[in-house]
Amino acid sequence: MIFRQLFEPVSSTYTYLIACEDTGQAILVDSVLPAWQHDLEVLKDLGLRLAATLDTHVHADHITAASHLRRETGSAIAHPAIDALSCVDRPIREGEPLVLGSVRLDPLYTPGHTDGHHAYLLGERALTGDALLIDGCGRTDFQGGDAATLYRSIHDKLFTLPGETLVYPAHDYEGRCVSSIAQEMQRNPRLGGGRRIQAFVDIMEVMDLPYPKFIDFALPGNRACGMCPEEIPDHLQEYCDRISNNRQG
Ligand SMILES: [Fe+2]
Repeated sequence: MIFRQLFEPVSSTYTYLIACEDTGQAILVDSVLPAWQHDLEVLKDLGLRLAATLDTHVHADHITAASHLRRETGSAIAHPAIDALSCVDRPIREGEPLVLGSVRLDPLYTPGHTDGHHAYLLGERALTGDALLIDGCGRTDFQGGDAATLYRSIHDKLFTLPGETLVYPAHDYEGRCVSSIAQEMQRNPRLGGGRRIQAFVDIMEVMDLPYPKFIDFALPGNRACGMCPEEIPDHLQEYCDRISNNRQG
């Protein structure tokens, strides 16, 4: 299996490239619109063909490249079925693995950040989306989010994985790349050290985070599998424009 962690700097998003070496089929998890050409160049360099894009949830902080990549490469759009997006080719549900040659992704329904969020288990790696971040977690104050639900998802679906399972989040704002289930169970300041559900709910309730600056454009754009609205203000244009390759990790 080929596994690459790609970084999109405008929204600090990690996109994961996963591919089967035998068949040359690749999947991009949580692709980001301004990085689509860069990601295709990485695939080309590796001699891979994009079979599908897959998202963990309807994002509020960036626009998925799913639609754009489908138009360019014919890749299928995979997305959690529960979000009921009419543009999806392959609805995803827990209990129904996504198989690509020798690669198998197991969806884990992990609501709480959004009501449709899924994480993906890839053998000894877990792509935890915005449910579990390194030393943190996704916010729970919009898109059907709920702190108690997120606590249950993380405890019941992620903290029950083997401790050595590697945690690959959808974002990191401090340059951290990877953690593990054992590490997060131990030292995650919001969820670790055996913190109880009410303590977690209390933490999330007093966070008082600012209104996400791109959400009003991202939600309709992502519900259309990655359309950038025409009327977007200039200062948010970087969420739609191509970024130069030297800004990519
Ligand atoms: Fe999110």
